[in-house]
Amino acid sequence: MKGCGRKVLSTGGGGFLGQKLAAALRANPSIAGTPVSGLILADLAAPPPMDASFSVECVAADIGDAVAVNQLFSDAPDVIYHLAAVVSGAAEADFDLGMRVNLAGTMNVLEAARTAGNLPIVIFASSVAAHGGEAPDVVPDGVELNPQSSYGTQKAIGEKLLQDYSRKGFVDGRGVRLPTVTIRPGVANAAASSFMSSIFRDTMQGKSANCPVSKGFKVWHSAPRTIVANLLLAAEVRAEAFGFNRCINLPGRTDTIGEMIAAMTYVSGPAAEARITWQSDPIVEAVVSGWRSEFTPTKALGMGFIADNSFEDTVRWFLEDDIVSK
Ligand SMILES: NC(=O)c1ccc[n+]([C@@H]2O[C@H](COP(=O)([O-])OP(=O)(O)OC[C@H]3O[C@@H](n4cnc5c(N)ncnc54)[C@H](O)[C@@H]3O)[C@@H](O)[C@H]2O)c1
Repeated sequence: MKGCGRKVLSTGGGGFLGQKLAAALRANPSIAGTPVSGLILADLAAPPPMDASFSVECVAADIGDAVAVNQLFSDAPDVIYHLAAVVSGAAEADFDLGMRVNLAGTMNVLEAARTAGNLPIVIFASSVAAHGGEAPDVVPDGVELNPQSSYGTQKAIGEKLLQDYSRKGFVDGRGVRLPTVTIRPGVANAAASSFMSSIFRDTMQGKSANCPVSKGFKVWHSAPRTIVANLLLAAEVRAEAFGFNRCINLPGRTDTIGEMIAAMTYVSGPAAEARITWQSDPIVEAVVSGWRSEFTPTKALGMGFIADNSFEDTVRWFLEDDIVSK
């Protein structure tokens, strides 16, 4: 990465959010008023090449491999988006893989950032799945993490490590607990929450999709556009604004599946809902019912992080960003 300016590294840079974040940086290549001078997109397979006003390197690197991770840090990036992860359903199905990628991989990233020695900003994509179990029905800030899945546990441990690496002055860590990000484009993935996208994405494109939970099931969610805006802001807010807790609940919206379907119908007409099938899936239900669906993210809102105004907006943005332009 050449030139002065912000050198950005994105692990999981070929994934859903990694690609949207890269596109947002290309469209607005500055962080806190400093131009972006380079971007490394790293993933298991090299992400597709991208043209931008700054240099872009697309590289294959397994974050479970400490040597490969150290190579990503050879030019001491100063903003790291740590997005690479094995998603919830996959981490639950394969405990060893989840531990290797979500826990050991996060440690590899933090150690490489520490060794680089330039006190980089590290933005860690944590998850609402870090909360659960015996927690208030509406989760305020400051509630202990009580994850009820391997994925949530790996994210919670990652948060604690980020906190301590920040306390020690090794990195400037910013952990953001993402709500379920919907509507995700492309094909279904191994996230337990995958149906929360497919029942909208696939049905609006003429395919059927199964909903394994009832219409009354509540979801804490956020649109991709909003999440990308919040990820960008996470690199810009002053470190002091985080205080003694480097990890925050991001804003989101609570809607039932039924309310979300009604919003889709309002924007795109009734045909899509008729394509939804309603077969329960005890395995998916067991994981997603362990996630909390209502939060009061007072701290994040005070720091300027944003939530969606409606799920209708999410549907419109999906049609604009992921269907019309593709
Ligand atoms: N999308 C959501 O709803 C959501 C919600 C909460 C948290 N998050 C978190 O946000 C981050 C990005 O999520 P996403 O939706 O873009 O997921 P994604 O699955 O689309 O992207 C993750 C990327 O990580 C890569 N990856 C997996 N194992 C790897 C390894 N060993 N080495 C290098 N790369 C590896 C995958 O190939 C994938 O491209 C993840 O950390 C996820 O846990 C996402």
